[in-house]
Amino acid sequence: MEQFSAVLRALGDHVSTPAPIVLLDVVEANIRRMQQWADNHGKALRPHVKTHKCVEIGRMQLAAGATGLTAGNLSEAEIFSRAGCEDIFLAYPLWAAGAKAERLRALAQRTRLSVGVESVEALEQLAAAMGDRAELLGVVVEIDCGARRSGVRPADAGRLAALARERGITPLGVFTYPGHGGTFGARERAAQDQAEALRQAVSSLAEHSIEASVVSAGSTPTAEFCTDEVITEIRPGEYVFNDHDNVRLGDCGAENIGLFVASTVVSDQGHSHVIVDAGTKALAREGNPERGYGQVPAYNGYLKLLNEYHGFVELTETAPRPAVGERVAVVPHHVCPVVNSFEELIISNSAGELLARWAVDAQGQLN
Ligand SMILES: Cc1ncc(COP(=O)(O)O)c(C=O)c1O
Repeated sequence: MEQFSAVLRALGDHVSTPAPIVLLDVVEANIRRMQQWADNHGKALRPHVKTHKCVEIGRMQLAAGATGLTAGNLSEAEIFSRAGCEDIFLAYPLWAAGAKAERLRALAQRTRLSVGVESVEALEQLAAAMGDRAELLGVVVEIDCGARRSGVRPADAGRLAALARERGITPLGVFTYPGHGGTFGARERAAQDQAEALRQAVSSLAEHSIEASVVSAGSTPTAEFCTDEVITEIRPGEYVFNDHDNVRLGDCGAENIGLFVASTVVSDQGHSHVIVDAGTKALAREGNPERGYGQVPAYNGYLKLLNEYHGFVELTETAPRPAVGERVAVVPHHVCPVVNSFEELIISNSAGELLARWAVDAQGQLN
């Protein structure tokens, strides 16, 4: 990760801190590698855009071979549809009431759109929103495979799919998110839970004479274990940038990190820490007091505490200290909320050449 310091030095005053620096060559390689994995295993790749929220990067993923994109909310789906993506899966139990009903209907008329569903109530709401154009919408039933977030029990998937069919909405298949694979040592086991749950759900649809053409799985940490033949598609998001958590979990190496935050040391009062200008406004509050909120590899330090504008970089006694005014790279523990803090990404390469500035098009779009 020493290369981050070299990039920062090369970028010099072109960058006003704090700012997210994207290493385009690393990102391109990450996109290529995941696409290759999907191609080699006969899976469609439908990347989740919540990590980058950036139209330019979504286009790169599609150009590399992604079958479509995954969105986390209606705004993301609208923004990527307007940018030219023709096939979007809103992998969320959308409650299509009020203005969202009209927006959903409009979006379904211009994009091949599918939405996650996991309750009768939300399904009825979707049907009401679509009115006489129900056939334009696909639904994918969400099942829970162990994360205990949203999703019905696998055996109940068929009933919801059958109800969708009754309402004129096309039941496309099933999906799940193995969020319990995001802790150390849990990736492979979570992927096994996922495959088993998806198999049950596919059988449940078959009991209602519905064939699941979409069986959608995955996350970045579990992607490499999504090999079961029942799975037709994977939806990783973080892989495009990767972060310290991905390295810690073992699903990538430090050399695969494609985004870091450029920060400046603004205070050193001789404590065990120095202060940088990246606090929660830049990094969000992802992490915990024990592990910290970000890594500062050049000084073997980590962000022990964050205030809104102040980041407390804890240093080991023996390590050299960065000087006030010096720029240091912060590697986020979880990259997605960091990107959402900024209006633009600074696009560089590993040699520190400034290539472009790309808008975070869906920044702050919460509904
Ligand atoms: C429904 C859904 N699908 C896919 C993903 C992508 O997983 P990851 O961010 O680990 O790549 C997420 C992440 O939160 C998700 O919630």
